[in-house]
Amino acid sequence: MEKVISIKKLSKAFGNVKAVDNLSLEVQKGELFGLLGPNGSGKTTIIKLLTGQIRPTSGSVDILGIDAVNEPIKTREIVGIIPEQETPPSFLTAEEYLYFVCKIRKIIDSDKKTDYWFDMLEFNDQRRVLCKDLSRGTRQKLMVSQAFLHEPKLAFIDEPLINLDPVMQRKVKDFLTGYVKKGNTVFFSTHVLEIAQEICTEVGILEKGRLVYTARMSELRKKKKSLESLFFKKIRE
Ligand SMILES: Nc1ncnc2c1ncn2[C@@H]1O[C@H](COP(=O)(O)OP(=O)(O)O)[C@@H](O)[C@H]1O
Ligand SMILES: [Mg+2]
Repeated sequence: MEKVISIKKLSKAFGNVKAVDNLSLEVQKGELFGLLGPNGSGKTTIIKLLTGQIRPTSGSVDILGIDAVNEPIKTREIVGIIPEQETPPSFLTAEEYLYFVCKIRKIIDSDKKTDYWFDMLEFNDQRRVLCKDLSRGTRQKLMVSQAFLHEPKLAFIDEPLINLDPVMQRKVKDFLTGYVKKGNTVFFSTHVLEIAQEICTEVGILEKGRLVYTARMSELRKKKKSLESLFFKKIRE
């Protein structure tokens, strides 16, 4: 087994609010890890901490052998990120935005890579539309594309499927399942339990910044336990 994420005693306080409270967790290569929790439980804060976007109050984060707390830029170079509720730059077209990301990610075959995503998520007809004029769903497609353009070994995605229609949700779910089968790792947060039930290999349940439960989905499936009943049990305990 190969660790790609190692979190030790991680805490983050905002004033009196303990958004993340003494979290320790390891994620191995090839997992599709789902971080589950009600709104305000700390999912977005954890993803920001793991990708060096904010500094913890205490604790450590190792991402693919890099200290994410002290080397945030290096960390972000090697991972893919889809932040929560983020939109691409209003003044660029969809295509310009993806080429821009290709430059930053030092991608050589940028035509091929961008074509792949416009085809895969079926938005070729929107290539030359300014991002400010795209629908929310199409902007979300762009955010998915930018995160995976450089084929990162590890991707962090925060509530990725919310603005997509069922057909596109299916595509992205299938893509993620296939992506981890190739030996990559995906860490994603959601409050939609059905999505986690369907595609995750491993889940963690978060309540008020504390990880109250982790499980392998194969074990839960074997025991015929639904994530929903577990979730409510754990959250109420
Ligand atoms: N920048 C911030 N300043 C103050 N409080 C924050 C900030 N970011 C998050 N919080 C608080 O931390 C808690 C966890 O928030 P968040 O990580 O966004 O949860 P989730 O993504 O699970 O909905 C919430 O109580 C939220 O209000
Ligand atoms: Mg959130």
